[in-house]
This record gives sequence, C-alpha cells and structure tokens, in this order.
Amino acid sequence: MPFELKHRKDISKLQSDAVHSSELKRTLGPMNLVNLGIGAIIGAGLFSLTGIAAAEHAGPAVSISFIIAAIGCAFAGLCYAEFAAMIPVAGSAYTYAYATLGETFAWIIGWDLVLEYAVGASTVAVSWSAYLAKFLAHFNITLPTAISMSYWQTPEGAAETGIVNLPAMIIVFLVSLLLIRGIQESARANAFVVALKVSVVLIFIGLGFAYINADNYTPFIPDNTGSFGHFGFSGILKAAGMVFFAFIGFDAVSTAAQEARNPQKDMPIGILGSLVVCTILYVLFSFVMTGVANYTEFKGAAAPVAVAIEKMGVTWLGPAINLAILAGYSSVILVMLLGQSRVFFTMSKDGLLPKLFSESHPRYKTPWKSNILFAFVVAGFAGLAPIALVGEMTSVGTLFAFVVVCAAVLILRYKEPNRERPFKTPLVPLVPVLGILSCGALLVSLCVSDWHHFARLVGWLVIGQVIYYSYSIHRSKVRQAEGQA
Ligand code: ALA
Repeated sequence: MPFELKHRKDISKLQSDAVHSSELKRTLGPMNLVNLGIGAIIGAGLFSLTGIAAAEHAGPAVSISFIIAAIGCAFAGLCYAEFAAMIPVAGSAYTYAYATLGETFAWIIGWDLVLEYAVGASTVAVSWSAYLAKFLAHFNITLPTAISMSYWQTPEGAAETGIVNLPAMIIVFLVSLLLIRGIQESARANAFVVALKVSVVLIFIGLGFAYINADNYTPFIPDNTGSFGHFGFSGILKAAGMVFFAFIGFDAVSTAAQEARNPQKDMPIGILGSLVVCTILYVLFSFVMTGVANYTEFKGAAAPVAVAIEKMGVTWLGPAINLAILAGYSSVILVMLLGQSRVFFTMSKDGLLPKLFSESHPRYKTPWKSNILFAFVVAGFAGLAPIALVGEMTSVGTLFAFVVVCAAVLILRYKEPNRERPFKTPLVPLVPVLGILSCGALLVSLCVSDWHHFARLVGWLVIGQVIYYSYSIHRSKVRQAEGQA
C-alpha cells in the first residue's frame, strides 16, 4: 500500500550508528557549521531578488518581507535543530522522516531534496555565470554568447544564439573537486568566502547609511494598486514568498551532522546561528538599499545592487561587490552540492540507492564517486537545460521538506515523548504547527501563482516512486531486517 507509515528506522540504532561510523570525518566545530550555513544562505536571493521584490511588490517594506520570511524559516529551523541534535547523521530531513513517518515518506523527502540541492546548485551556477560576465565587463572582456549561455537562455531577438553555459559548468566542476578533496578543505575555503561576502555586505550597509535619503521611505508601504501582490499588505506577503529563496540553505547545515565534532551542541548553533546572522544582515541590507535609491528605480534592473551603488557614487564598490557576489554564489553551490551528496550517501547506506553513492574515498573520506556523478548532472543541467523554468522548484522542494520536518517533530513528540532531546524545539506544539502553516502557505502561494510548479513537483515525485517501487523497495535494509524485502 502506498504511503504506509511503516518500516521506520529505530532512533536508538541511528544514534549508535552515528557514533560508531568512521566513513565521514568528524572535524567540524561550531564556527565551521555557522559558516556553512551562511555560505549556503547569502547569494542570489539577497543580491538579485531584493531589488525585484521592492520594485514590483513591496517597495521599501521589502525589509518587512525579509522579517516575515525569516519568521517562517525560524519555525522550521527550530524543528531542524531538534532533529539534527538528536539524530546527527548525514541524511537530514530524509532520515528524520525515516524515523517518524516510515520509509515511503523518507524516500519522497530524499527524492524531493534533489530539487533543493541539485537543482538549486544548477540555478545558482547559471546566476554565477551571469555575474562573471558583468565582472569581466569591468575589464572590457566579453565572452562569446555561444559558450556563455545555453540555447534556452538566449533572450528573444538576440543577435547570437547561446549553445552551452560553459562558465556555469566550470564552477560546478571546480567546487566538486574541492568537495572531493575533503570536508575540512571545503570548510576552510567556505570560511574564507563567507568572510569576504559578509565584509562586503557590511561595507555596503555601513557606507550606505550615510547616503540614505529619508524621502525614499515615504510611503514605506506603497498603496496596493488593486491587484493581489502589487504593493500594500499583499505585496509584502508576495515579496516574502520571493525572498524566501534568500534563506534556503540553513537546513543544509544538518546534512553535515555526521561530520560535526559535537553535533548535540553544535548543530542547533550552526542552524539557528546562521539564520540569525543572515536575517540581521538581510533586513539592514534591504533597508539601506531602498533608502539609498527609490524602490521604483530597481524596476527591470538586472543588477539592483549596482543601482544603489551608482546612487552612492562609490565607484570602487561596484567591482568589489561583484567579486563578493561571485565568491558568495560559489559557496552557495558548494554547500548545496555537499548537502546533495550527503543525503544520497545516507539513502545509499540504507540500501535505497546504489552503493556508489556511499563509497567514501579511502584517504579523503568523502563520497567522491557521488560528488563526480553529481558534478556531471548538475553541470550538465546548468550548462544546457532551460533552467529558468525550474529555478523556483528549489523553493517549492525546500518548503515541502520544511513542512514534513515540522510535522515529524510533532509526531515524534507524541510517539516517543521521553526520548532524550539534546535540543528541544520550544513551545511544542505551537512552533511546529506555525512552521507547517507558514511554510505550507508559502508553498501553496508559489503553486497557485504558477500551477506548473505543482505539476513539476508531482511529476518529479512520480519518477521517484517508479524508482522506489522498481529498485529501492527490494534492497531496503530496514525491510530486509524486518524480513520483508
Ligand atoms: N539562499 C541561497 C541564495 O540566495 C540559495 O542564493
């Protein structure tokens, strides 16, 4: 029977497996984890979407939209923290679902996370390529269209047609090589990039405050134009759905749980710490951006931050921001690819996916074969596929996983109230319920605004079910242990 809440993993066994596993190295401390979170979080959402969200939906009140999106993420983050501290294995939401809802749901979530991590990495790689072109333009270098965008990305009426997005493919391969080399090396490179991008964000905020023109804040919430989502209160909500993308990634910290030195204590610090830091930066950044330039000036701007910098007249900041954006996007790709390989690592250990996904390198202790395979898949997708069509699927897939994790916290509190929880989600059942409602509302609003999202999500999950029933179900270790495979 489909969707049966059976074949659950035993949490005590998961915990002892996590303690005794030596396949991945336990080297990450609390700062590494916070940095991984920030590495995955600050990217296209902040640097590209803030301007569009302000110009078309919320005006200067886009900073309120960031607060609303952050509240929804905070509910989910608190639930993730409870699980990540209690079951510190690499599978994240997939494993939490396995322990609470059973194998069928676990598979659905593991398969769904491909939308967040692999598709997310492809989407950001394509944006990376666009920013590389802008950066090179500072030095009067132009890449030929044929090798800098895919056929599907070519704008209508363009003189030249794109063939392949080579820079997007190259960045995916470079980041994958780093991931294969080692988790500590990856964490170190990530920390450097995080320092760079946070510094540039702080410089923008610090300098920008002096250039704020208070007139730009009047009206702070522009009147609704008569249609839903175009300014007014509904506009703030619509913009919140859009900038939700900017917060995606804090949950990726939980996929590194098996590589954390002291996961019980440090997982909540990594997940919630990165979320708090980024929320503060986002609110200040968007407040300054819409104070320096009028929100109407961001309309149609491909690089909205550049509009604000031009207003400030600080010309050197342009290339610096561009460089930080490039570095920042590459760390987003890094943590997304890390998350993807770690989720499939666990699914493969459970027998649901082929062994190659969990074979770790004898010296580097990383799932190198999986990293190579995903490098080709993600790079191929970024280089050749109609990425614009599926970009928003990252938000859809992530929200779906958030809803399930919040529900899983509730279920486990009910089923196993006395289990030791090193970190407890506060105010249960209120916080998980609010998490389900807020993330569920964002998910519904994304699917209602474009039903293709829903169709694609269902289509993707159906493909997953075909694989599950034709392959995984017969090799499931949990079922084998139950004598049912
Ligand atoms: N949060 C990540 C970004 O904004 C996905 O790029």
